[in-house]
Amino acid sequence: MSSPGWGRRRGPRVVVTAGPTREYVDPVRFLSNESSGRMGFAIARAAARAGCRTTLISGPVTLETPGGVRRVDVVSAREMLAAVREAFEGADALYMCAAVADWRPARRLAGKWRAKDGGSRRVSLELVRNPDILATVARRKGERLVVGFALETGSGLRRARAKMARKGADYIVLNDSSALNARRASVRILGRDGSRRELADQGKDRIARALVKLCVER
Ligand code: C5P
Repeated sequence: MSSPGWGRRRGPRVVVTAGPTREYVDPVRFLSNESSGRMGFAIARAAARAGCRTTLISGPVTLETPGGVRRVDVVSAREMLAAVREAFEGADALYMCAAVADWRPARRLAGKWRAKDGGSRRVSLELVRNPDILATVARRKGERLVVGFALETGSGLRRARAKMARKGADYIVLNDSSALNARRASVRILGRDGSRRELADQGKDRIARALVKLCVER
């Protein structure tokens, strides 16, 4: 999808992912999560306002596309991986804000899942691991900026730093679960260089502007 004015911008090319993914069990049921997409959309809006050529890759959400942003809609993690690979090819930065489902059903049934028809009181659903989009694309990122997100309960600092190293990101934005589906959040921005910045109880637009600065000031 193109957006008016996108091609005339001269700033860095930025890719932002947002929202949940859906992993279908059958034509009408899926595994997903509570992500609203607000943080990713706020980053895309802030990036476009800062003059970046911004591509927003979004899972299913009910938000309007910010002005000047090119939007690509996807449903599953595997679709998101393909879209991110393509968009990141010529980009300068990736903000991997989407709440990607870690697992998907091993099979997607063509018709409705009729497990209860047999009268059983317990069934199991076999799940397989989804690709880790961030880790996959960060492997060949070179000098490009890659920012990941982590939602941890408790302090989570050590786990977030380990995640940053394991996935190869330059920064990890550490959230707690109060950020989910909310307009405000408290985040810690952890850098690979050991830096740490705290933004407590801020609107997501303000957090987004701070994150976009990481790219624009580079
Ligand atoms: O491991 P965890 O899900 O906590 O990592 C969160 C970070 O990794 C986020 O930036 C998220 O977008 C990204 N991620 C991913 N692919 C997955 C799972 C998470 O890119 N399959």
